[in-house]
Amino acid sequence: SNPSILILPGDGIGPEVMAQVTRIIDWYGEKRDLAFDVSTDLVGGAAYDAHGVPLHDDTMAKAMEVDAVLLGAVGGPKYDDLDFSVKPERGLLRLRKEMDLFSNLRPAQCFDALADFSSLKKELVAGLDIMIVRELTSGVYFGEPRGIFNEGNERVGINTQRYTESEIERAARSAFELAMVRNKKLCSMEKANVMESGILWREVVTRVHADYPEVELSHMYADNGAMQLVRAPKQFDVIVTDNLFGDILSDCAAMLTGSLGMLPSASLGAPMDNGRPRAMYEPVHGSAPDITGQAKANPIACILSFAMALRYSFAEGAEADRLEAAVESVLADGVRTADLLGEEGVTPVSTSEMGDAVLAALDAS
Ligand code: NAI
Ligand code: MG
Repeated sequence: SNPSILILPGDGIGPEVMAQVTRIIDWYGEKRDLAFDVSTDLVGGAAYDAHGVPLHDDTMAKAMEVDAVLLGAVGGPKYDDLDFSVKPERGLLRLRKEMDLFSNLRPAQCFDALADFSSLKKELVAGLDIMIVRELTSGVYFGEPRGIFNEGNERVGINTQRYTESEIERAARSAFELAMVRNKKLCSMEKANVMESGILWREVVTRVHADYPEVELSHMYADNGAMQLVRAPKQFDVIVTDNLFGDILSDCAAMLTGSLGMLPSASLGAPMDNGRPRAMYEPVHGSAPDITGQAKANPIACILSFAMALRYSFAEGAEADRLEAAVESVLADGVRTADLLGEEGVTPVSTSEMGDAVLAALDAS
């Protein structure tokens, strides 16, 4: 049977950008004989409107059965005053939690045509293609004890950085697996100089390395890592780090490449029966209520998220390369949605015109 995808367009520009991905999925079925079984369902505010909950149990069950979930974005002003328990983002959090997506992949990829958009000098970022793997389900955001407590005559705020060996091991393994399908180079970042969890992190990553001897492994203190990311980002390929450092380092890396409308992500869990990880792919951006319904949204982040699905869920690396190259050539041709304007005299294209351009580039590939 065909590989299966559950599409959850969500709210705001989510459905607008996802519509372009659906066209590309259809293209693969028609032109590359790579057909997918696609089903579509509601998440976020759209699910709340229909069912009174941001994710229906049936949708959750479907998400557990498919090979990959593609999500658009959730949320919007209409839902801002809802009770916390039914807010749109609770739908997203439930998916992440029940699918146990412990490994968050954030690529920072700089297309040459957009190198001027970077916060850095063009030559530092042209051709940049790195991947940050952030542990997503443990660490200081979850560790106990946590809280604000009375201590003597003042209060103290406490969070606990806590990692078990198995939590570190599964994050490390997912990073080594990625390194194997990329350029076999992995840098692990922690602060083993001042943190116990960092000492254990380094020890476990080093141990897992024995199973991936072909991968060149290095270790770096995370503060130095932050500096190196903006000094010479091209020295890296895959970076693996914990939840807190990953949060900060991935936002930092994102700005190396420019617009929010360009950034894809993947969240991976444990291997399923087919040997591939449980997975959800989504653009980094939100539902962009300020441009919803205006056909202005850039669909590239969502399209590149599907390219990640081709690579990491469907073992179609060559087709992922094809799709990324199509995006690259469209950008090189000067096709720009409104968020990518900078050059003088360029008229922006609409969301679907950007989709047209990517499909034309695929046809030409
Ligand atoms: P946002 O990412 O939706 O928008 C930030 C700015 O970037 C806006 O000016 C928007 O127009 C622009 N932008 C974002 N994506 C774009 C695209 N594809 N093309 C062109 N321009 C784009 O973040 P914001 O405004 O903080 O949040 C809006 C709503 O989205 C909120 O309800 C928030 O909770 C939700 N949100 C959802 C996320 C998710 O579903 N994963 C992530 C972040 C926010
Ligand atoms: Mg962040």
